[in-house]
Amino acid sequence: MDLGLRGKVAVVTGGSRGIGLATAELLAKEGANVVIAARRPKHLKTAAESIGVDPVEADVTRLEDLDRLAAHVKDKYGGADILVNNAGTGTYKPFLEVTDEDLLHGMAINFFAQFRLTQRIVPSMIERGGGVVINVSGRTAVRTAYPPGSTCTGPAKAAEVRFSADLAEELKPHNIRVVCIVPGVVMTPDRFGKWEREAHGRELEVQEASQVRDKLEAEKLPSGAQWGTPEQIANVIAFSASDCAGYLSGESILVDGSPGAYSYVRALYEEKQKQS
Ligand SMILES: NC(=O)c1ccc[n+]([C@@H]2O[C@H](COP(=O)([O-])OP(=O)(O)OC[C@H]3O[C@@H](n4cnc5c(N)ncnc54)[C@H](OP(=O)(O)O)[C@@H]3O)[C@@H](O)[C@H]2O)c1
Repeated sequence: MDLGLRGKVAVVTGGSRGIGLATAELLAKEGANVVIAARRPKHLKTAAESIGVDPVEADVTRLEDLDRLAAHVKDKYGGADILVNNAGTGTYKPFLEVTDEDLLHGMAINFFAQFRLTQRIVPSMIERGGGVVINVSGRTAVRTAYPPGSTCTGPAKAAEVRFSADLAEELKPHNIRVVCIVPGVVMTPDRFGKWEREAHGRELEVQEASQVRDKLEAEKLPSGAQWGTPEQIANVIAFSASDCAGYLSGESILVDGSPGAYSYVRALYEEKQKQS
């Protein structure tokens, strides 16, 4: 399907790895001019060289970086048609162990970053006659995780769902659609590394991590359960960003073909309990 994205200007935060990278790659393949933003220069450079996008080093929790990113998009491209607020993260932690720093960071990297960057990009969309904002949330926004431990992340992700719905109504007169994508468990190297660090309390070597994943996948996932791939989420994002989804706005789309895949996180913690 031709998504009609040729010549559009798209900004993807967290576009150097995982779901953001797959999204940036697909939008670029569809002919969009894509700006990606993330922190680590090494991965930005690799992404820029391999998929032909414009990298900007930026931390979405820093206001000055968001200002610089929005100014870059305005100066170089005259503004954006598509904004994919994808950078974000989830932390599993029992409620009584959540620190104030965790709480503030959870809101800052998830909800605040989406709100703040959208405020900085939307004026150029209005000038250009319209656009699309895609906010990437997560399953913990709408479902309790197992093992429970998402009291910090879940509400930050839920705020993104509400933000998207309210913003969609407010921006309708400007021909701007807002869609929230809510992924289930998606296999990205950085995300799984983080879960494994949290469960084991240390960094796993690449080979060790791969063995753990294979073992838990074979032994613990219910029959038929699968992790999603970044590309499967990117397909839904790109479709939602295109005119093919012109009658879609304000809604959250749960892209979670296999809720049983959460057993992986549970299994990680069970392994740890056995070892301790
Ligand atoms: N994977 C899942 O199972 C899953 C499930 C539900 C929801 N989600 C959501 O989907 C989105 C993408 O997740 P993912 O799994 O693809 O993540 P990932 O594999 O961990 O990649 C995260 C990307 O965001 C960038 N990033 C992280 N912190 C940043 C910051 N402060 N400022 C700018 N960029 C930052 C990373 O690059 P740098 O580290 O170099 O900055 C990287 O490019 C997130 O909002 C996440 O919460 C993921």
